[in-house]
Amino acid sequence: MESRQYFDTVAPQWDNLRKGFFSEAVREKAFAVAGVEPGRLAADIGAGAGFVTEGLLKRGLRVVAVDRSEAMLAEMKNRFGEDGAVEYRMGEAESLPLEDSSVDYVFANMCLHHVDSPPAAILEMARILKPGGRLVITDLDRHDFDFLRTEHCDRWMGFDRPDVARWFAEAGLADVEIDCVGENCCAASQCGCGAATVSIFAALGTRP
Ligand SMILES: C[S@@+](CC[C@H](N)C(=O)[O-])C[C@H]1O[C@@H](n2cnc3c(N)ncnc32)[C@H](O)[C@@H]1O
Repeated sequence: MESRQYFDTVAPQWDNLRKGFFSEAVREKAFAVAGVEPGRLAADIGAGAGFVTEGLLKRGLRVVAVDRSEAMLAEMKNRFGEDGAVEYRMGEAESLPLEDSSVDYVFANMCLHHVDSPPAAILEMARILKPGGRLVITDLDRHDFDFLRTEHCDRWMGFDRPDVARWFAEAGLADVEIDCVGENCCAASQCGCGAATVSIFAALGTRP
């Protein structure tokens, strides 16, 4: 199954599935690393059913949620409504439907390992940040659990942190730091091919 079709299919169950894969501690780490402040505007890229967006709303931020799955955006609209602090945009991480220098923070949780070109997506995320704005990507460290590719349509088998740091620097971001979230992503194979436990990193960069 192709990735877009996979996420359209699992959208109604995503929030429950997500609870089995990783916990709220992941978004808490992302918010701590970014130093989020209420009243600011954030973009949530590959927003899914709104895991990161929900946390940002609780902290008093406004959110532009971007996803390429119409079904995921429909889930978010059901959860958060259409007249509040969330704006929904269908779009691709590698060509974001946002203007240059338009948001204070960009978050992308578990999206990077699904995009075709991670460096191109990071360049786009950096483009939409205001000067002084911060990008935080939380994603998987390099792993060798092939069933995440075949069963969950992952495009990349995680990342080497030095590559991520280089892509941040090439996108013009400064003060790049990559830290452990201290949480794992856990998944069991449907075909009984084993279970994956993969560590999660949080990468931070600031637009000068
Ligand atoms: C693993 S889910 C994570 C969802 C959410 N961030 C969370 O933490 O629960 C990945 C999401 O990224 C979206 N996605 C994958 N590739 C994308 C792309 N190239 N552009 C935009 N969204 C994408 C999928 O539709 C899906 O909703």
